[in-house]
Amino acid sequence: MWAGRFLKKSEEIADEFNSSIRFDKIMFEEDIRGSLAHAAMLGRQGIISAADVEAITAGLGEILSDLKSGALVVDEKAEDIHMFIEAELTKRIGDAGKRLHTARSRNDQVAVDLRLYLRGKTEGLIDLLKALTRAVLEQAKANVHTIMPGYTHLQRAQPITFAQHLLAYCMMFLRDIGRLQDAAQRMNFSPLGSCALAGTTYPLDRDGVAKELGFDGVCMNSIDGVSDRDYCVELESCFSLIMTHLSRFSEEIILWSSWEFKFVELDDGYTTGSSIMPQKKNPDMAELVRGKTGRVYGDLMATLTMLKGLPLAYNKDMQEDKEAVFDALETVEKCLGIFIPMVQTMTPIKENMYAAAKKGFINATDLADYLTKKGMPFRMAYKTVGAIVAECIQKGITLDEMPLADYQGKSELFAGDVYEAIALETCVGKRISKGSTGYASVEEQIAFVEEKLA
Ligand code: ARG
Repeated sequence: MWAGRFLKKSEEIADEFNSSIRFDKIMFEEDIRGSLAHAAMLGRQGIISAADVEAITAGLGEILSDLKSGALVVDEKAEDIHMFIEAELTKRIGDAGKRLHTARSRNDQVAVDLRLYLRGKTEGLIDLLKALTRAVLEQAKANVHTIMPGYTHLQRAQPITFAQHLLAYCMMFLRDIGRLQDAAQRMNFSPLGSCALAGTTYPLDRDGVAKELGFDGVCMNSIDGVSDRDYCVELESCFSLIMTHLSRFSEEIILWSSWEFKFVELDDGYTTGSSIMPQKKNPDMAELVRGKTGRVYGDLMATLTMLKGLPLAYNKDMQEDKEAVFDALETVEKCLGIFIPMVQTMTPIKENMYAAAKKGFINATDLADYLTKKGMPFRMAYKTVGAIVAECIQKGITLDEMPLADYQGKSELFAGDVYEAIALETCVGKRISKGSTGYASVEEQIAFVEEKLA
């Protein structure tokens, strides 16, 4: 390509080191779409002839279908997908092919390809996140009355419902969707026409090209258009948060499916056995999702670090953007893909959740509230209940097994209605604050998620 300037060919080892076609070939459709819009605009603006536009359009169309059908295979020796398609076009249509790159550089070309590619993939990811939110929501709807212990510090804290716990994840996933939508919106501007860095002397119609490619406008500064990869960083940040949420959920699923908890049973189809221990049923899918989270964070860090020292405008370092963002994207896609059916087929074991909720004095706050509502200041009630819990632990009984006489020994405010007040169903059912685990609140949250998904 640059034989004019060079006295000898580049070394094979350098070509191989320099090449990105191994990973950028997946953008062939976007590259062709961008070229079609660019060529059509060059024609409209009288920069190249109508006959050339026609030849380029037909040639690119054929290359596209040949690449799709497999009739044309990408030459791994080419430097990148942009050079490969241009060379293939020229091979097929001759001189007209050589006119395609008028008023364009690979710098704005790669930037447009990447934005188009990531835009499409982001839409797919949003659909996956919606499907996951739906799957979690369905489990929540089936478990509005399933009582389980809620935890802080992984110590039993207060009774909640399984629905309330699951709905927390729905809220996180809804925000993940919003973050992707935000990032996609900021990314959706066309760098084409920035050329190498300074723009061009040709009378381009940048806005027309942007519109044709579905962008909301053009990058307003040519240097910025070819230099920044903040959209990769933003998307990788979104991916990282999605993975954070999936990883916490995975951790809980792993705990819940252990014999120590046994709150859920994973479907055999999403677990594995052991090569030596015949009894084992391992939650490998959840563990892998948790494990792959580090990899996505790594991709984010790699991109940030790659960018931080770069002078404007394009530098070859930036070719590293793609492997990182593609890897992160593919990892999130795969994790969401496995998570959806794993959640759909997961069976909650309600009686184990309930039995666990019965232990651990998780109704102690409600016992203190009982005294408070009868007039005792909360701090005093807190102390009184603390002493009652200590006595129960010593006697090996739960709060509802403590005789009324013993209660009344601690405070004369206690009466027969105390047992009703600390029943798990009351603790959950009487929680009336917005967003709480109470039944009405949970129904409100379900309606909220349904509405967002719609
Ligand atoms: N393969 C290159 C990349 O991914 C394309 C842009 C090359 N531009 C250049 N001036 N060398 O970044």
